Amino acid sequence: MLTDLAADRRVVVVGGKGGVGKTTVASALALAQARAGRSVLVVSTDPAHNLGHLWRRRVGDGVVRLADGLDGLEVDPARTAEEHLRAVARTMRRLMPEHLAGEVDRHLALARDAPGTHEAAVLERLAEVVEDAPHDLVVLDTAPSGHTARLMALPETMSAWTEGLLRRQERSSRFGAALRALGAEDEEAAGVLGGGRPRDRRTDRDAEIRRVLLRRRARFTHLRDLLTDEERTVFAVVLAAERLPVLETLELHAQLERTGVAVGALVVNKRSPADAGELLARRRAQEEGHLAHLRDRLPGVPLVELPLLAEEVVGEDALGAVADLLTRAPARPPRTS
Ligand SMILES: Nc1ncnc2c1ncn2[C@@H]1O[C@H](COP(=O)(O)OP(=O)(O)OP(=O)(O)O)[C@@H](O)[C@H]1O
Ligand SMILES: [Mg+2]
Repeated sequence: MLTDLAADRRVVVVGGKGGVGKTTVASALALAQARAGRSVLVVSTDPAHNLGHLWRRRVGDGVVRLADGLDGLEVDPARTAEEHLRAVARTMRRLMPEHLAGEVDRHLALARDAPGTHEAAVLERLAEVVEDAPHDLVVLDTAPSGHTARLMALPETMSAWTEGLLRRQERSSRFGAALRALGAEDEEAAGVLGGGRPRDRRTDRDAEIRRVLLRRRARFTHLRDLLTDEERTVFAVVLAAERLPVLETLELHAQLERTGVAVGALVVNKRSPADAGELLARRRAQEEGHLAHLRDRLPGVPLVELPLLAEEVVGEDALGAVADLLTRAPARPPRTS
């Protein structure tokens, strides 16, 4: 079912609480699609990466081959944020008058530790990866819930923010044009840019700021459009059939809905077997109760189950077995009562 949903899409986002099996499901699903002949990239945005552990190889902040037709990438938030800030600093220094260089540095030093900086940088990187990846399918293995919901809301926030900057920039360049029309010389620009015709330099600078902002806005808008388009993106929430995880899944569903992202599938992982002793049978009965609640609250969302396996899922063979389970798993029909 989940593999069918993934089959004609460009992006699968896998979210859910810590330790429920997001990386396992993301990797298995990616492998299933690669084996079905698509080229696939699985990207981890979780600062505590375990893609490498799962595939028994070093995956880092650069694309590596994991299996035939399948590549992997672990986005390093700290490094991404550093690089992002360095790039912003370069642009700002080029565009700001020289006497403000100290100001630019102070501002960026503060931004380094400001809340949201890492997330914004990771998001911009994701936008780039999704836009540029030559692969047919990109599977995003995300960090635990709260982070994911914020990440999904961020494209909207970031493009609104960029929009505001653009409007301010427009006003200030109109103001500049008015001043120039009145014959006022732009001494500041003349000083910084070392002569030349200040009027033209100022106009170039305005145009460049505008170009940078427009590019950024386009990138965020593009990502938001992609993530909220159910034809191109499916969001899968992985969970355990327990009380708290079910409640958190409902909360995540609501948060995502507010940002315009629909949950396309629920993957209930580590289901206890009914035929392996009394303890597990009793657990299974309890799980049924929690799942019934989930079905009642989210009747329309397809749900698949994966059994609790005897061993940890590590390496291509084990992931292949999970991929087969995912491909064969029937979807529970939506509850009608
Ligand atoms: N169906 C299963 N049966 C048994 N073990 C499983 C199953 N699914 C996942 N696991 C194991 O559970 C552990 C957690 O899985 P995984 O790393 O995929 O979770 P995660 O949601 O990505 O965790 P985190 O939030 O820390 O990134 C791993 O050791 C994995 O091998
Ligand atoms: Mg993980």
